[in-house]
Amino acid sequence: MDAIVVLDFGSQYSQLITRRVREAQVYCELFPHDTPPERVMELQPKGFILSGGPASVYEHGAPQVPPYVLESDLPILGICYGMQALTHALGGRVAASTEREYGDAEIEVLIPNPILGAEHQRVWMSHGDRIESPPPGFQVLARSENSPIAAMGDENRKRYGLQFHPEVSHTPAGGAILRAFVFEVCNAAAEWTPASIVESAVARVRAQVGDGRAIAGVSGGVDSSVAAALVHRAIGERLTCIFVNNGLMRHGEPETVVQAFNQHLNARLIAVDATETFLDALSGVSDPEDKRLIIGEKFIRLFEEQARKSGAEAEFLVQGTIYPDVVESSAPDRHIAARIKTHHNVGGLPPDLNLELIEPLRYMFKDEVRAVGTQLGLPDALVWRQPFPGPGLAVRCLGEVNLQRLLRLREADRIVTDELDAAGLLRDTTAQAFAVLLPVRSVGVMGDQRTYAETIVVRAVSTEDFMTADWVRLPYELLARISNRIVNEVDGVNRVVYDISSKPPATIEWE
Ligand code: XMP
Repeated sequence: MDAIVVLDFGSQYSQLITRRVREAQVYCELFPHDTPPERVMELQPKGFILSGGPASVYEHGAPQVPPYVLESDLPILGICYGMQALTHALGGRVAASTEREYGDAEIEVLIPNPILGAEHQRVWMSHGDRIESPPPGFQVLARSENSPIAAMGDENRKRYGLQFHPEVSHTPAGGAILRAFVFEVCNAAAEWTPASIVESAVARVRAQVGDGRAIAGVSGGVDSSVAAALVHRAIGERLTCIFVNNGLMRHGEPETVVQAFNQHLNARLIAVDATETFLDALSGVSDPEDKRLIIGEKFIRLFEEQARKSGAEAEFLVQGTIYPDVVESSAPDRHIAARIKTHHNVGGLPPDLNLELIEPLRYMFKDEVRAVGTQLGLPDALVWRQPFPGPGLAVRCLGEVNLQRLLRLREADRIVTDELDAAGLLRDTTAQAFAVLLPVRSVGVMGDQRTYAETIVVRAVSTEDFMTADWVRLPYELLARISNRIVNEVDGVNRVVYDISSKPPATIEWE
């Protein structure tokens, strides 16, 4: 399959470049700039994109364009720092600057060329240094008020440089520019479609597993469901899926999981309802970290027990790791990002089952995982499910978790979800929307009765990466309907509040 390689010089947008190319249905992989050449060339790329980055090309230790890239004679597109590194490598001059040009700019295209379309375009700039003179053989293709060389190209050798960022949404024609590079300059074919992604992932799983057997834990989450469905497509009956219902899921979720695997996929599924076990273990526990630990440990024990009992005799364990979890970024803060991830991944994996991992989603972005799920016949309820924490409703039921309070929360959460869904705000507008039950009672009146009951918080956030988030400006009418329904339909709740905190300083969850 045709592929494009992005070499990462540490820009926060490097993954985005990769995603944009994949959106054009061309396979694309991101590598740190110092990855061993053999590893990169294994892909037999049709072209290279050099990302931006925080360095200045003349400073000591600044990353350079690796010689094999230039020697390959393949097309190259340098973006921002990538353009400067390319200029430096090919004998042009870069002007160091202490000032950054940041934000919206307009470029004027000076010569017709294969990658830039309209004569005037809005673009997003974020750079310090800029090109003083392009390397021999290059022509200036576009300028902006502050960047006399906003784009340059050597059409004969198929090498291009952009001072601005085509990968971000603030550059409206950016997608078209990247597509032009990929299709017109690199001559890549659009072969990375949901069907071909499935086909290649299935082939990879078959090659790994041979005639072995595998088990998969399915939680109702998108990633674990799609990973299991893919492995099922690859090895059929030799996969055993295990679903431990911890009793902490949202309304209708356990049924959706069981139906999807039994009826749609016809996969071998062992489903255990361990609600009582989990609730017993959580009895009297209010501390959020204690809740997480208890739930994580119980899950592992039950999963192991089921795996043993199932007679699956597996040598492999399916895991739903996706591409953003594994790409090794060259960004200076890559270690911090990695730590945050592990914190949130706790509780998923039995560590001492001594099984080899199958990670069929290792090279997929979330939107690709969803497309694959649909391609494999999984229902929308699973494929479009919002992220949901492993410890489930336990960390949204503040204070003690007991059956009564859990039912209260589940019912309120169902109303929030239903109303947002009916308003068409569940898929794109809100990244996560849910109810939280507070262990706070307040006074109210209902009819002629005085009430003293608990409070529901409605939380709805938008976010790109879950590291930062903002509360969604939901329409008042919708909030009014949600509030009315919760107070009228849910026993033990007489007050509804809307959470208007962003992250930071708050977090998305309340515990
Ligand atoms: P916070 O609350 O830290 O959440 O802003 C960021 C993202 O992580 C999810 N989250 C968890 N996921 N186990 C999980 O699997 C957990 O213990 C956990 N805590 C938070 C949260 O739902 C959001 O998507």
